[in-house]
Amino acid sequence: MSNPHFPAGAKPLSASAFDRFAREVAKYPAEQAQSAVMACLAIVQQEQGFVSLESEKVVADFLGMPQIAVHEVTTFYNMYNQQPTGRFKLNVCTNLPCQLRDGVTALSHLEKKLGVTMGGTTDDGMFTLQQSECLGACADSPVMLVNDRTMCSFMSNEKLDQLIDGLRASSKEDAA
Ligand code: FES
Repeated sequence: MSNPHFPAGAKPLSASAFDRFAREVAKYPAEQAQSAVMACLAIVQQEQGFVSLESEKVVADFLGMPQIAVHEVTTFYNMYNQQPTGRFKLNVCTNLPCQLRDGVTALSHLEKKLGVTMGGTTDDGMFTLQQSECLGACADSPVMLVNDRTMCSFMSNEKLDQLIDGLRASSKEDAA
């Protein structure tokens, strides 16, 4: 039975992805090919936008390791998407320090503004809202990470409005 959280449908990986896998594996001693697992998963995600169960199996077979071990890596790190995401991935920290400093208000404002709940993607495919464990910036809480790179600190409703509106505007400019 298919799991709605792990949709099938990713295209087969390209020959170039396998070439890149091989280059990553070559960086390690022959008996330690599994050390390349994170790099290989990153290659999958660059090519497909997320890491499907099918792709995990391909990586597992390539590296000679059990699929469950690959799945443990995929599910441990926030940076790997287990399903397609919107153009902007918003990882909101829901750990205690952020929650104690208006994190609940910030999250509920975001959900209302975007019209999605945690885990959802906006209808226009622009934003995906994801839960995150501590992002290591508790002193700046509440915080959120945009596309695994840009930290949004001290989130207030006004700041979130500016950020979301700015991202939407930049996306329209890119499309023009
Ligand atoms: Fe949110 Fe640490 S608890 S960044």
